[in-house]
Amino acid sequence: MNTSPSISLTAHIAGPVRWVAGAPCLPLILPEGSASLEGPVAGRYFLARCAEEVDGERTDWSLYLRRPLYAVQQRAPVQLPGDEWLLHLPPDEDPGHGWLRRRSEGASIDLLGPFGNGFSLPESGRNLLILADLTDNPGWLALLLALLEPMLDRGGRVTLLLRLDGSLDEAALSHLPIAVEIHTAPDESAWEQALATAIPWADQICAGVGRGRYTALAQAIQAKRFRLEEGFCQVLVQADILCAVGACLACVIPTANGGITRACTHGPVFDLTRLAQ
Ligand code: FES
Repeated sequence: MNTSPSISLTAHIAGPVRWVAGAPCLPLILPEGSASLEGPVAGRYFLARCAEEVDGERTDWSLYLRRPLYAVQQRAPVQLPGDEWLLHLPPDEDPGHGWLRRRSEGASIDLLGPFGNGFSLPESGRNLLILADLTDNPGWLALLLALLEPMLDRGGRVTLLLRLDGSLDEAALSHLPIAVEIHTAPDESAWEQALATAIPWADQICAGVGRGRYTALAQAIQAKRFRLEEGFCQVLVQADILCAVGACLACVIPTANGGITRACTHGPVFDLTRLAQ
């Protein structure tokens, strides 16, 4: 998994919030090369200050805590200097997210990051299975989106298995490369059946699923591959990230051996062997 030094950055809003892969994303321009990463950006995050600043000083302390914003995409903009990032901005009632949503184009945002261990893609594996439980979090597909192009670019094959209620939103799929094979599971039985079919041929799994599925996923892998090997399945965990440096313990999650670990620094992407047996 990838790591890089995290730094303080001034980003600028590049336009209105965009819906990408079924999730709202904040487009930001960061100074060119200021947040360069090894590997895909999926699983990496920034902490955004949600307050106005004048001469580098915040003027409002009512939204004291920074909000974690997960990377969806990074690319060089066509006309502007700098790097364009799309960061997932959850569509909830959180006042910090609301403050970010109300910023106008060109407004500056103070960021720290990028933080965390993201997903790693196999050097030699050719078949990547991506799991996204949209009944748990409609944003999972967007949070895994950055894995698709790099895997296809290296000649790999990508299969996407979506657990969802109701019908598939076609607009949510408009950002997916055409080469991605998409399967949907409208209920638990279909999900389990699709997993049993897909696991045997997969060289690696990257998953965005809730904590309640870790054990079942480990068991499904063991049932088809006899054991759960380290490196086979990575999971992006959901945790309350506040400080991002391992100091506050807000983000601790249970591990498979009965201990706990900090998702902000040791994750938020973990090997499934760390989380379930
Ligand atoms: S967010 Fe503070 S210890 Fe992880």
